[in-house]
Amino acid sequence: MTKTKYPLHPTRNNLHSNTKTVVIQLLNARLADGLDIALITKQAHWNMKGHNFIGVHKMMDDFRNEQNELNDKMAERIAAIGGTALGTTQEIAKNSSIAEYPTDIISVDDHLTALSERFAIYANALRKAIDEADEAGDADTSDLFTEVSRAMDQQLWFLEAHKPYPSKLHAK
Ligand SMILES: [Fe+2]
Repeated sequence: MTKTKYPLHPTRNNLHSNTKTVVIQLLNARLADGLDIALITKQAHWNMKGHNFIGVHKMMDDFRNEQNELNDKMAERIAAIGGTALGTTQEIAKNSSIAEYPTDIISVDDHLTALSERFAIYANALRKAIDEADEAGDADTSDLFTEVSRAMDQQLWFLEAHKPYPSKLHAK
């Protein structure tokens, strides 16, 4: 699709055009995921109720702020190497690999589970993208994916660390 509708824009960046084409598709795929993740982070922030509400509610905003910066970096990398960044709701819906987020859940625990499942899909796809960009010949985009991957691994950890854990000490 990108070849005809989105031709490469002229730039003095000397990456091979084949590399650019492959990496732009890869960046747009992970950008669609990242924008989807940003949307569901707010969906959870607004609708969750129950135990640990205020802590998790505020954590969602910290997540979103970091995601905004990372999504911007991926989109601008696309533009920098002559591509077209795809960030409309229609493109996100078409290209995201993240499972649809349930809009009928309320409890903080259900939101933590639903978010963890989806953040894991994204974090693991980013890890794969590090190698894919490297194999395509673009070390800079590979490095960017490493940055995003590390951040999303941390966000996934924060989500998972809120889940109840069996106690080792037994109260008398
Ligand atoms: Fe808010």
